[in-house]
Amino acid sequence: MDFIKYPWFQLPKIYLNNIEWPRFDIPKIGWSTMPKLRIGDAVARLPVVQGGMGVGISLSGLASAVANAGGIGIIAANSIGMLDPDYYAQNRDANAISLRREIRKTREKTSGIIGVNIMVAVNDFHSLLRVAIEEKVDLVFLGAGLPIKGIPVEGLRSAGVKVVPIVSSARAAGLIFRSWVKKYADIPDAVVVEGPKAGGHLGFKEDQIDDADFALENILPEVVAKIKRYEDEWRRTIPVIAAGGIYTGADIYNVFKLGARAVQLGTRFVATHECDADIRFKEAYISCRKDDIEIIKSPVGMLGRAIGNSFLKDVASGKKQSHKCAWQCLKSCDIKTAPYCISLALDNARKGVLDKGFVFAGSNAYRVDKIISVKELLKELKEQYLCAREKSICSLRGEYEKSLERLVSFKEEYLIALKEGLNSLRDEYERGIEKRGAFREELLKNMDKITPLKDEYRNALEKADLLKQELIEFFQRYSLQNRLEPESA
Ligand SMILES: Cc1cc2nc3c(=O)[nH]c(=O)nc-3n(C[C@H](O)[C@H](O)[C@H](O)COP(=O)(O)O)c2cc1C
Repeated sequence: MDFIKYPWFQLPKIYLNNIEWPRFDIPKIGWSTMPKLRIGDAVARLPVVQGGMGVGISLSGLASAVANAGGIGIIAANSIGMLDPDYYAQNRDANAISLRREIRKTREKTSGIIGVNIMVAVNDFHSLLRVAIEEKVDLVFLGAGLPIKGIPVEGLRSAGVKVVPIVSSARAAGLIFRSWVKKYADIPDAVVVEGPKAGGHLGFKEDQIDDADFALENILPEVVAKIKRYEDEWRRTIPVIAAGGIYTGADIYNVFKLGARAVQLGTRFVATHECDADIRFKEAYISCRKDDIEIIKSPVGMLGRAIGNSFLKDVASGKKQSHKCAWQCLKSCDIKTAPYCISLALDNARKGVLDKGFVFAGSNAYRVDKIISVKELLKELKEQYLCAREKSICSLRGEYEKSLERLVSFKEEYLIALKEGLNSLRDEYERGIEKRGAFREELLKNMDKITPLKDEYRNALEKADLLKQELIEFFQRYSLQNRLEPESA
């Protein structure tokens, strides 16, 4: 800071005139679209992953429709062999055979990005992973357990299959990445962080489900921060994909603000024409009310979210369902004590036989009021997303403009006060008045008046600077994304 030199004290001189405030031009390229999702060399036009949904809820029909519409379509592999009437005869080979067939069917219907969801908790995890590698799917999503042991990373890499673990905490993400570095000198390609509002099996304990500390809004930034370290160290982009309770395009925008680069949706995709489940499964979503959706204990050894029905009531009251076990498909399932076969119950639900099974659903399933096409759904989500982004940028810009106005008026007030005070005092001083003590007092009084103004001005300056920074980052993020991925349509 410079100082105006006075004989017995110094006054700070602040340069106010040459402060320049940047104006922003909204980038035109790709501004009317959502950012693309890049996982390794796989690029999806829309940052929307259709969550894998077993048993048989997301097969070639849904996965190909989503991939064709620009998202990522996922086939759920667990107990997929139940589609085959020979499931009980073929035993554990049935899943691998059906998965291969379903991948091929999906490929015939789309050239978009497709993946396979495999539960780590199933006994044929490695056999299903092998099929995904042999069929060279774009991605594998690995959930319900930590994909750490015996992952054929070399095989995955040489087949070009990207790996996306599904986690419910930053701790789990850290554990997986640390183990991969140690065991395989590699890291996964993206991460799904699934919050407690999701449908299907949940990675949370009972008391965590409604605890705000475990809400998606809280665990997502923690996972983003954890992954950022690996991104920096490995110089790779590792998108964090948020899941669980994301229902509208505004929800998508909100999780993007928390660092997500994409979303994974389950519930919304169930209520589509292309979803592979029976119409009665989808109608269960339309007819359910908020308090019909409940948390259940699954034989997988995890909690799950489902729509309550007579089957679940019987299970809760201790009634054992008679069932045949084809082979112990789940590591944690004890056939002797399990109240029912979950694969069979889910397969019955898929077929619409709801009194012999139950419907997994996310906490927002009660909001579903109609079945639409995948294309319509993605269009709606995109429009809502763009609208939320527009609103946010408008309010940010409004705030910025307001703070600039305040800044200008502070600057003027400050300059006037400074000028008036100093000029009159300087005049007096120059006229050679000798009452030094009184003069000095008066000057200091004037300075006291100026100081709070100056502080206010500085605060406004800081606020404007923060807003400016936020705006710049906002635009940089989007223009960078769009420069990398120029809009094709
Ligand atoms: C009917 C249904 C079945 C599901 N099955 C699986 C599954 O087999 N494997 C898995 O990792 N996640 C499964 N999920 C979770 C979804 O993939 C997705 O992450 C989750 O539903 C997202 O939350 P949302 O439903 O609120 O969008 C299932 C969800 C539903 C609704």
